[in-house]
Order: sequence, then structure tokens, then C-alpha cells
Amino acid sequence: MSKAQIGLIGLGTMGAALALNIADNGFDIAVWNRTTATTHKFHDTAGDLAARITPTDTLEALVQAIAKPRAIILMVPAGQAVDDQIDALRPLLDDDDLIIDAGNANFHDTNRRARDAGDLPFLGIGVSGGEEGARFGPSIMGGGKRDHWDRVAPILTAIAAKHDGTACATWMGEEGAGHFVKAVHNGIEYADMQMIAEVYGIMRDGLGMDNTAIGDTFATWDKGPLQSYLIEISGKVAAATDPKTGQPMLDVIVDAAGQKGTGRWTVIEAQHLAAPIPAIEAAVVARNLSSQKETRAAGEALFGAAPHHIPHDNMSLDTLEGALMAGKILCYAQGFGMIAKASDEFGWALPLPEIAKVWRAGCIIRSAMLDDMASALGDDADRNLMFAPKFTDLLKSNHDDLRRVVAQAALHGIATPALSSGLAYFDAMRTERGTANMIQGQRDFFGAHGFERIDGGSGHHGPWGD
Ligand code: 6PG
Repeated sequence: MSKAQIGLIGLGTMGAALALNIADNGFDIAVWNRTTATTHKFHDTAGDLAARITPTDTLEALVQAIAKPRAIILMVPAGQAVDDQIDALRPLLDDDDLIIDAGNANFHDTNRRARDAGDLPFLGIGVSGGEEGARFGPSIMGGGKRDHWDRVAPILTAIAAKHDGTACATWMGEEGAGHFVKAVHNGIEYADMQMIAEVYGIMRDGLGMDNTAIGDTFATWDKGPLQSYLIEISGKVAAATDPKTGQPMLDVIVDAAGQKGTGRWTVIEAQHLAAPIPAIEAAVVARNLSSQKETRAAGEALFGAAPHHIPHDNMSLDTLEGALMAGKILCYAQGFGMIAKASDEFGWALPLPEIAKVWRAGCIIRSAMLDDMASALGDDADRNLMFAPKFTDLLKSNHDDLRRVVAQAALHGIATPALSSGLAYFDAMRTERGTANMIQGQRDFFGAHGFERIDGGSGHHGPWGD
């Protein structure tokens, strides 16, 4: 058998799916998994694709099975496992062999690994789309030296999702740029998911809708301007029946959200960048709070359950749809704003229009809106998405729906942290004279930190001691 064109380490859910995708696109691939049985089970169940897959029992055998200059994808858990795998692999490789970390790495780790690699080829790529995306077409966000990306771009663009024939795979910039963009993708994903969950809560607790009606509503919205993968699957989740009990699936799932940490990384980094992403921060906080179920049960016993029921005259499903539209635009505006901030901070020159294009298919946040976002960012990448004419018009049309939904939810004790923070962000972004003058007065009062005056000059102090 001729040598493989690429190698892959780690045949977990994502790694196995990606390897099948690579073989399915006509490339010969060698694979290795720490557990040899997993490697052979993967090959034995690969069907016709097995002919393009070389299973190997040792790392040495994997390296030998790949044509030079070699390229090897790592699909191993983020963190120390990646460093350990690189350490095990490096001594077996030639100086022009390329290691590609395709896991959900923290971009700071990827920056470090790229610098440690020096001239040795190393890429960190964000792969989005879950198992289905990895198998049939993910969105790929590349980071590292451009010439190293160019070496494997033919394979990565072939396996990536396509939007109107264009591959959703792009080089973002040096070092950890790809993993950074993936982290922001995940932050937007968390906020999008949280807003959908909040609207689900309003339909369930506020409007008293059953899961079938809720599923139908999401399915209807998925045919309109809210069309997206997350709206589509939320409709399917709401409509699903538990095969074990025959109950609505959602009613059987515990309301405690897991998180592998990517959204949290985004929020931490946003604070370092002083990039305002309140809807994304609210979504991570909501996940943290959701895990405190016993505390929340005690709180309900103590304070009594919230009234919840919202009179139907107070809110229509169209109002909810409009609120979600506005919330979604605001959370994407925050995400792209953070990418722009990081681009300057890290000297990456991140291609915002290209990023929006790469997210149009394959990734978890793929949606109909991203085409217009790509156009808006192409017109002016330095402008907040809110101020692009298309999205200004959409926000003008829908922000009252967001306000009504947040107000009604608040009046009836239904928590909407992401939608509420989105509304607060909108109001702050359209208020020229805010209230930070009070903050400056307070800071100067207790810490003599000084402030600027509206009639000019800085470093002024107030008459607090008089
Ligand atoms: C994607 C998803 C995926 C996600 C993991 C963990 O783009 O395919 O973002 O990478 O991060 O499934 O999900 P949580 O972060 O919610 O744990």
C-alpha cells in the first residue's frame, strides 16, 4: 500500500469522524489511538472507507506509514494530553513534519506550543460542528504559519463544510489565532444556546406551552430570519420523546448544564481585553448557576416559586421571535467586537468578514444571518455590527420586542440573564451620556484617582474634603 497522505492521532468521537471524512474525500490516512483495540475497531467498522485507512499499533508505525513531509492531526483532549502527545511524537519526526492540534485548545497554549516549536511546523486549528460536522463537513479556523497552513489546505478545504461551493476553512493568523477564533465561536454559541433556553423557559413557564407546541414554534422560526442549526436542533430536542418513559425528552433531562470550558476561556480573555461581551458572560454564569440545583431548590422553598404565568395578551410568539432576533444580533456584535479587539492586541489582523463566511456552514452557530454579517463586516470591519445599516434596521425593528420580553419575564420571575444583558448592552450602546461620571466621582472621593471634566482637562479632583 502507498504511504498515507496524512495521519491522525486520537479516535474519540471527533477524531474518528474526522478520519472518516478525510478518507471519504479520497485521501489515504494512517491512524493511531492509545488503545489499540479502538484503532482496529475503528478500521473494522469503516466499511468501504477502510481501504483508505491504515490502522497502526504504535506511534512509530504511524509515523512510518505517512508519506514525507508528514502531516499528523492530533485529536486528543485539550491541555496536558496535547503536550504529552507532542513530546512523544517529536523525536520520531523529521524537521519538516507538521503537527496539527485540532482539539479545543486554549489559544494561549497554542501560542506557547507554536513558539516552543520554533521552526518546526505546527498548526492549531479550531474544528466546529460536533460529530456530524467532523464527519461530513466542519468549519475550520486555522492558526500558525501561513506556509504550514498552505501545505494541508488542500485536505482541510476538501473536508470542510461548503457554503455555495466555498469551503468553510480559512487561515486566521499566526500561532493561536485559529483557536482564539474558535473560542469566540464557542462564546457566541453559549450565548445563542442560552437565549434559546430562556425563550424556551418563557414559552414553557410563562405561556404554559407544552413541548410539542414549543418544538413546532422553533420549527416555524427555523423557516424564517432566525434560521440556524441551533434553532433547528432546539425544535427537535423539544419535540423528542424519551424512549424509556414515553415522556417528553426535555422533561426527563436534568436542568444542569455541562461545560468543557471553552466559553469560560472566552469570558476570561474578554476581561483581559476589556472587550464587553455581557451576553456571553451571562451565558457562562447561567451555566454555573444551573449546576447549583440544590441551592436553587432551597431558594424556591424559601422565597416561594415565581408567579411565572404571563397573560397571552402581554406577549405573542412573534414578540418572542423578534426578541431572539435582537438578542442574537447583539451577541454576535459582541463576539465580533472581541475578535477585533484581540486582532489589535495580538497583532493578528484577523479577517472578520472571512470569519463570518467560515461560520456560514458546518459550525454550531451556522445561521442565515451570517451571510449579511459577512457583507456588513466586509463593508467596514472596524464598525460594531449593530451600526451596520442592515443590523441597525433589524435592531430598530426588534429591540422593543426584546424589551417587552425581558420586562414581562422579569415581572413574572422568569430569569433571562442573556436576553436581559443583551438589552442592557443595546441601551448602553445607544446612550451618549451614561452614568460613569458617578463612578469617577466615587473613585476620586475615596481614592483621589482624578477625572476628566466635560469642559476639558484630566486629572481633576472634586471638592470632597471641603
Ligand atoms: C463545536 C462545539 C464543540 C463544543 C464541545 C463542548 O464547535 O463543535 O463548540 O467544540 O465546545 O462539544 O461543548 P461545551 O463547551 O458546551 O462543553
